Amino acid sequence: MKKTILLKVDPENPDPIKIQVAAQIIKEGGLVAFPTETVYGLGANALNPNAILALFEAKKRPLDNPPIVHVADPSEVYRLVLGVPEKAELLMNTFWPGPLTLVFKRSPIIPTVTVAGLDTVAIRMPKHKVALALIRQSGLPIAAPSANLAGKPSPTTAKHVFEDLNGRIDVILDGGATNIGVESTVLDLTVDPPMILRPGGTTFEALKKVLGDVKLHPFVQAEEELPLEKIRSPGMKHRHYAPKAEVILVEGEVAPVTCKIRELSDAYALKGEKVGILATDETQGAYYADVVKSLGSRFNLAIVAQNLFRLLREVDSENVDVIIAEGVPTEGIGLAIMNRLRKASGYHIIKAE
Ligand code: TXA
Ligand code: MG
Repeated sequence: MKKTILLKVDPENPDPIKIQVAAQIIKEGGLVAFPTETVYGLGANALNPNAILALFEAKKRPLDNPPIVHVADPSEVYRLVLGVPEKAELLMNTFWPGPLTLVFKRSPIIPTVTVAGLDTVAIRMPKHKVALALIRQSGLPIAAPSANLAGKPSPTTAKHVFEDLNGRIDVILDGGATNIGVESTVLDLTVDPPMILRPGGTTFEALKKVLGDVKLHPFVQAEEELPLEKIRSPGMKHRHYAPKAEVILVEGEVAPVTCKIRELSDAYALKGEKVGILATDETQGAYYADVVKSLGSRFNLAIVAQNLFRLLREVDSENVDVIIAEGVPTEGIGLAIMNRLRKASGYHIIKAE
């Protein structure tokens, strides 16, 4: 077991000495967890194959699912890819730094393990002072998947990272809770029109406004497991965001959803099972169960996104047998929220009418 060092940093004004320590560890092939505006990432030198292998091992992540490469400036993209399409420049100018990951044809300077043998690479520039300072100080592109054990909800606090990875990584930079709460949007630029492979912090609507034409991969809105031949992003085939408890997602209009959840919750309670409910501010009072938590108001989905992974972990830590979650509309950030909830439920979805 490694000794994991926890370093608290001011998210607005990170201490250069602590950043220096963390950057040195990255340069030496070590693993550093750090906050971004979306979720915490687990960073390693993207150009060092051994560091990347250690990264996969620490997360227990399957080797076929490549991490995102993080840069501190758009100009760094050019040496990592084979060509930067005009649309990419437009997107980088508009959305970087920020929660948008772009998939390019990769340059051979990126080791095969970093991209899991693909001929493409996913790159983003995060909007967080700690992340940017760490990348700049190390002078390297930093590969960073979310800093959770594979299959678990992504971490939005340093405490979540510690729970999953203490003893398995070198440093955790604790910069407080992350702002957006769901991961970046992954957009494939190797196809035309560009295609969203994972919905996230940059909305479909915002991308459409800038690009005109942009497609949603069927997986983004999938309500069941996709057949293997449709998979375009390795992340699509792995179980994700899954708490220990069984998760059931109830979708539809608010009134029937509330009724259905009450019915389900009573039925499980009668069977002697411990029930957790993920509600919203507007419906929370309508439920009676062992654990009831509100994700936030249905009229402020940014807050729901911010709370989602933390509350999945919190309800799970109460050792409930089943978590029943309310669906939200798929507009704006709601698309990313519903994608994560559907995956967390293993597509155990009930339509309430
Ligand atoms: O917000 C985020 O994106 C966070 C923070 C830390 O930046 N990172 C993150 O990384 O969510 P990760 O590794 O948990 O998710 C990366 C996703 C996976 O679904 C992976 O399959 C996909 O991006 N991906 C990576 N490289 C790809 C590629 N070359 N082509 C298609 N999809 C790719
Ligand atoms: Mg992840």
